[in-house]
Amino acid sequence: MANPIPTSEESKGRGAMVFARRCAVCHGERGRGDGPSSLSLGLSPTDLASPGTRAQSDGCLFWKIAIGRGPMPSWDVVLSEEDRWHVINFLRALPTSP
Ligand code: HEC
Repeated sequence: MANPIPTSEESKGRGAMVFARRCAVCHGERGRGDGPSSLSLGLSPTDLASPGTRAQSDGCLFWKIAIGRGPMPSWDVVLSEEDRWHVINFLRALPTSP
C-alpha cells in the first residue's frame, strides 16, 4: 500500500502531534523505544528511528500500526487512516538512530 499523503511540514507537524499524544509514552519522544511506559511492558517498544524500521515500507508500517503488535494496542479504530500516514511521515523525518 502506498502512502497517499506526500510528506510536507504540515503533515509531519500533524504526525508529531499524534505521536506525542499516543505513541511517545512507549516509543519515546524521538521514537527510540525509551518512553516512560517502556519499563513496565516486559518487551521493548521498537526503536522506530532504527535502520531496521527505516527499511520497511510505509505500507508495512501502516499495517503494523493498524493491527497492533504484542503489548501495543491496535490503532485502526483510534486513529484515522490519514493520521496514521501523517505519523509515518513524521517517523521518516526523525534522525536515524545509531
Ligand atoms: C503501550 C505501549 C505502546 C504504544 C502506546 C505504542 N506502541 Fe508501538 N510498539 C510497542 C511495542 C512493545 C512494540 C514491539 C512489539 C513486538 O515486537 O512484538 C511496538 C511496535 C511498533 C511497530 C512495529 C515496528 C516493527 O518494526 O515491527 C510500529 C511501526 C509501532 N509500534 C508504531 C507505533 C505508533 C505509530 C504508535 C502510536 C500511534 C505506537 N506504536 C504506540 C508499544 C507501544
